[in-house]
Amino acid sequence: MRQIRLLPLVALMVTLMFVVSCGRGGYSEKPPIHPNPNMDSQDKLKAQSEHTFFPDGASMRTPVEGTVARGELREDDAYYRGKDAAGNFLNKAPIEFTEEILARGKARYDIYCSACHGVNADGKGKILDYNYPVPPANFHEERIMKLSDGHMFNAVTNGRLNMPSLKAQVSVEDRWAIIGYIRSIQKK
Ligand code: HEC
Repeated sequence: MRQIRLLPLVALMVTLMFVVSCGRGGYSEKPPIHPNPNMDSQDKLKAQSEHTFFPDGASMRTPVEGTVARGELREDDAYYRGKDAAGNFLNKAPIEFTEEILARGKARYDIYCSACHGVNADGKGKILDYNYPVPPANFHEERIMKLSDGHMFNAVTNGRLNMPSLKAQVSVEDRWAIIGYIRSIQKK
């Protein structure tokens, strides 16, 4: 007798398990139920996304022409471009090469330049194994040793003939540090 009364209960449990498991494994396009939203979801435009609000259809805005962001003025030609007031390349870097800066320069050189210019700065980097069209400069060669600091800074900033620009990867501060490091090993 007892067993018969249990039967509807077991059936109900099995049905419930079935319903619950379907719900968990299923896929839904709808957001999950979120009883207390606080400010978790807000209307916003995501970077690089499309939006119809602006005529160009982009959600990201470019700065108004002629505006300069705070701290981005970069007026100092010597520091930011390696040039003097007349637009000529500086012979000497506009910073002091301390031990600390040279160590930083070595680390950055090994990361950003050695693949092409070689760890010993002899122009025999790993890239030569991959058919690079022109050999990278050898920093111990007479012509390269005579280049001014400003010229070298410009080569890293804007690229030079077959060398790509590295301004996106290497900060202004680090570009000068690298030049200091190259100078220090050229002397040796
Ligand atoms: C992808 C390879 C590559 C990387 C990375 C690279 N260089 Fe070069 N670099 C070259 C090549 C190739 C040349 C020779 C360009 C030519 O003659 O066409 C060169 C030339 C130069 C020159 C001589 C420019 C001139 O006027 O003759 C300097 C200075 C220089 N590189 C500095 C650097 C420094 C500093 C770094 C690291 C921040 C660096 N390069 C990273 C490939 C590279």
